[in-house]
Amino acid sequence: MSAPEAFYVTTPIYYVNDSPHIGHAYTTLACDALARFMRLDGRRVRFLTGTDEHGQKVEKAAREAGLDPQRFTDQVSQRFRELLALMDFSADDFIRTTEARHKRAVQALWRRLVERGHIYLGKYAGWYSVRDESYYTESELVDGRAPTGAPVEWVEEPSYFFRLSAWQQPLLEFYARHPDFVLPPSRFNEVVSFVRGGLTDLSVSRTTFRWGIPVPDDPEHVIYVWLDALTNYISALGYPDTESELFRTFWPADLHVIGKDILRFHAVYWPAFLLAAGVEPPRRVFAHGWWTNEGQKISKSLGNVIDPHALVGTYGLDQTRYFLLREVPFGQDGDFRHEAMVRRINHDLANDYGNLAQRVLSMIARNCEGRVPQPGPLAAADEALLARAHALLPAVRDAMAEQALHRALELIWELVGEANRYVDAQAPWALRKSDPGRMRTVLWVLAETIRHIALLSLPFVPGAASRLLDQLAVAQEDRHFAALGPAGRPLAPGTALPAPRGVFPRWQEA
Ligand code: MSP
Repeated sequence: MSAPEAFYVTTPIYYVNDSPHIGHAYTTLACDALARFMRLDGRRVRFLTGTDEHGQKVEKAAREAGLDPQRFTDQVSQRFRELLALMDFSADDFIRTTEARHKRAVQALWRRLVERGHIYLGKYAGWYSVRDESYYTESELVDGRAPTGAPVEWVEEPSYFFRLSAWQQPLLEFYARHPDFVLPPSRFNEVVSFVRGGLTDLSVSRTTFRWGIPVPDDPEHVIYVWLDALTNYISALGYPDTESELFRTFWPADLHVIGKDILRFHAVYWPAFLLAAGVEPPRRVFAHGWWTNEGQKISKSLGNVIDPHALVGTYGLDQTRYFLLREVPFGQDGDFRHEAMVRRINHDLANDYGNLAQRVLSMIARNCEGRVPQPGPLAAADEALLARAHALLPAVRDAMAEQALHRALELIWELVGEANRYVDAQAPWALRKSDPGRMRTVLWVLAETIRHIALLSLPFVPGAASRLLDQLAVAQEDRHFAALGPAGRPLAPGTALPAPRGVFPRWQEA
């Protein structure tokens, strides 16, 4: 058997100036669903997340909290780690930029860029935004602020520069060779036009504060926080040891999932740094949209920040995961509304999915002695429903390959709808007396369809889907996608089933 194909997916590393909120939970959730899907699909997966702990913004937040930066980052980083448990995120590694393995990698990358002639010493004079940790040119400013609305300050200091200007042509060629490098396509167009507009050399060190990784051989300078942060994707694989099994298996990354606000760093600077260092760039960067809260921009000053603990505590974990991934086409902006959440919980989860399972399992419990029924010959309608169930994996796989997570869910729910229509049309309750053999066939077809639905929804609603698989007595070792389809592990007639229990309660307004 050949080695399983690798899949390396990363979240951005989160600034520790702030506690985790819905935006952070969203990015990591999307990666988690992708990582779970690929694992179930037989891929060898590595899913990385972590925290971005250096730079002026974090230093300032530590000062305001009255703590030294290391103590402060230890505390806040821990909250991001706790988010993994809260939301059942299946990350394989959690990197912190204050770890020795990371500092070593960043300094090695720096040295390599110097050796290859891509870094020179000069003087920076221009605008800087601490909130964005980004440099801006005069022409980019809007009413004296960064285009993001963040305040800027004038900075003049000695600085090392990365020869970004030399990478315009090679980047454009790289983009042309990799037409799926950035998704959605509209975002890729933005990147390409930005690079076509010309690139200026990038200041990659600072001297006016200390909280960062020192420049090798010139410790007056600390390395620019974005060069530091982006390196996490390879430091977590053991860079500069590019011969290690970990590095060779997982680099280049299959996918960096990020928010649209940090696209330029990932789609322009990062591949330029890597090409300059002689390291292959990642295969894809997917930029998702931003959430607002009941139509309003989310901000600390407005006091409308959505805390993932509150979401999970109020609506439930699977419900929150489902809503965030289903409500908004992945890549577009979304608005969080209580009413929309309740609609998803009551319609999609409780009525469509939950009821289907509950109806079928309780009929089996009542009429088939609580065992998987023995099917008789299959009628055309049975074959049609099973064919739909068997066709689901390839369709969902295609959607996941382009990070269309909402589409994957739509496809699963189309099968849920189909199964519900089949129950109504076949009316197994009416067959109980008139044709019990036919009733058993219908219930088996339904149970087998539900098995497909539950397995394919594991990446999205892992709690409810595994409880459903428990109720179908699907063994742990059969909970993967190779068990789907007729050649997989269909439910064996006669298997005893536990008593059915609803997996998706309705939302009751208090
Ligand atoms: N530290 C950098 C990333 C370095 S990666 C090498 C950073 N951190 S961040 O904590 O500010 O943001 C992390 C992610 O959260 C970004 O992808 C950002 O888009 C996302 N979000 C922050 N607020 C958000 C919303 N309101 N909605 C959706 N995502 C948002 O940037």
